[in-house]
Amino acid sequence: MANPQLHPLEINPRTGEPFLRLKDRKDIIITPPRRDDVALYVPIMNDPRIYEWLGSPPFPYTKEHAEEWYAKIKQSSDAILAELEAARESPELVLVGESPIRVIRQVKEDGEDVYVGDIGIIRCVEGKLLAPLASPVDDEHQANYVEANAALAVGDPNIIWTFGYYVVPSYHGKGIMTDVVRSLLWEWAVPRMGVRTIVGTAFEGNEGSVKVFQKNGFVKTKFIKNHIQMRGQWRNLQVLELLAQVG
Ligand SMILES: CC(C)(COP(=O)(O)OP(=O)(O)OC[C@H]1O[C@@H](n2cnc3c(N)ncnc32)[C@H](O)[C@@H]1OP(=O)(O)O)[C@@H](O)C(=O)NCCC(=O)NCCS
Repeated sequence: MANPQLHPLEINPRTGEPFLRLKDRKDIIITPPRRDDVALYVPIMNDPRIYEWLGSPPFPYTKEHAEEWYAKIKQSSDAILAELEAARESPELVLVGESPIRVIRQVKEDGEDVYVGDIGIIRCVEGKLLAPLASPVDDEHQANYVEANAALAVGDPNIIWTFGYYVVPSYHGKGIMTDVVRSLLWEWAVPRMGVRTIVGTAFEGNEGSVKVFQKNGFVKTKFIKNHIQMRGQWRNLQVLELLAQVG
């Protein structure tokens, strides 16, 4: 019998993987990472339609970067699935600190699926984003905000979270990320991780990403000038926030 602690994830009878089907786009699912995905990371991360808008991945992006990234996300997903397995007999659904699913795939008519993108939801680790409005943002205060957010226990409603995501360019503008954010947030992050406050960020000019957040109820809170330098160019950052209302 499937582990009831995976709720509301379903199990794919073909691959044995847990997955979440999107609320509206029923042909799109979110699954754990797979070994076969790794070969796709390099061309995706070296595509300017992707890397121009992402602050974290290295550039140029190599096979070694792809292997490191896969090892990291696979380990996280496996750890959460193991935690859920260990809690199989618990009468209540347990809260966990991450999502075991993150890879966005389109299921074709023959049942095969194709890689469409990725979404991660993690604890925010940037002091400037964690700083309450009109609070000091010197290095010492930033370090304190980060330390405090990291110290909160799994499931604590005061944890501040953030999303990182992309859709491969051939799938842009089809409503996929709007639905992915909505589905992952309300089906997994809120009920199974206790997520309440989420900070969304987009470099100035990333209208698609700002719209994805706004269509999910996020509101603009801060605009940070010269947030980071990428390939010699300073980038400004639009910050948005959602307070998930539950009950
Ligand atoms: C940003 C991104 C994730 C959006 O995903 P998507 O699946 O294309 O988004 P959606 O189709 O759900 O679009 C949401 C809204 O934004 C609009 N939009 C999408 N791309 C846009 C663009 N480049 N410029 C302006 N509006 C855009 C859509 O038209 C839609 O608005 P509408 O419903 O009013 O028509 C995707 O473009 C992407 O992966 N970009 C590169 C990486 C990136 O920017 N990651 C996010 C970093 S913060």
